Amino acid sequence: MSQAATMPAPAAPPAARLPRHLAVIMDGNGRWAQRRNRPRTLGHRAGAKAVQVCVDYCLAHGIGALTLFAFSSENWNRPEDEVGALMKLFLRMLDSEVDELHRRGVHLGFIGDRSGFPDTIRERMRQAERQVPADVRLALNIAVGYGGRWDIAQACRSLAEDVAAGRLAPADIDETRLGERLSLAGQPAPDLFIRTGGDLRISNFLLWQLAYTELWFTETLWPDLDDSVLDAAMVDFAERERRFGLTSAQVAPAAGGVA
Ligand code: IPE
Ligand code: IPE
Ligand code: MG
Repeated sequence: MSQAATMPAPAAPPAARLPRHLAVIMDGNGRWAQRRNRPRTLGHRAGAKAVQVCVDYCLAHGIGALTLFAFSSENWNRPEDEVGALMKLFLRMLDSEVDELHRRGVHLGFIGDRSGFPDTIRERMRQAERQVPADVRLALNIAVGYGGRWDIAQACRSLAEDVAAGRLAPADIDETRLGERLSLAGQPAPDLFIRTGGDLRISNFLLWQLAYTELWFTETLWPDLDDSVLDAAMVDFAERERRFGLTSAQVAPAAGGVA
């Protein structure tokens, strides 16, 4: 019997030690299906169910923001039938889930370059974003057609337009100004990043916003996600010391460290 099987699953840490904003690369759908000798698209359908697990977890634990990487700018280069199946699934999810999410206090937002999406999907994204719950419990950002490089480039273009129009001086451009033009402007940077599927990379996700995010990786394939995986990530996160460039004594002076 493996050690994992005999160990009790760690429960989530207290709310004060949980991330305010969780960012996730939902990876491993294709491999999940291939291991079952099924088409990759079946893995994407199973992955859609895992989104529910993750959203439920955030709602249950009071995590106020969740950003999910659903489709990258590079994913457009996948085989046409896989991209087509993903678009169909995305549209189906928009049609079936949005009202229920709204009812549960989830405000949906989409980040990414929408120019490649069909009009039907773009319209459904706009409609979903307009449905703001009276009491927002969770800001759910879905990254679709998203690339971190695209995000930084579009922010720079927006600043350049203001400079060209005389509304902004180049000397006034700083990290705050640039951050205000990025897709997640107004939301706290992710505290915790999770990538499923075993690969140890960022794959052009939130390049700017992840500057001081704690990174956590798991071999678990996205469709196999359950609460115990998320609990393990939260326990690990809760034990980390976030120093933001300072010394340990500066961030935890009560612990009696020497600066
Ligand atoms: C993530 O799963 C979903 C998308 C990128 C759309 P993958 O489709 O990348 O699954 P693997 O990595 O091939 O197993
Ligand atoms: C990252 O996964 C993008 C999403 C999960 C949407 P990929 O499967 O596209 O990443 P790479 O190609 O392995 O880096
Ligand atoms: Mg992948």
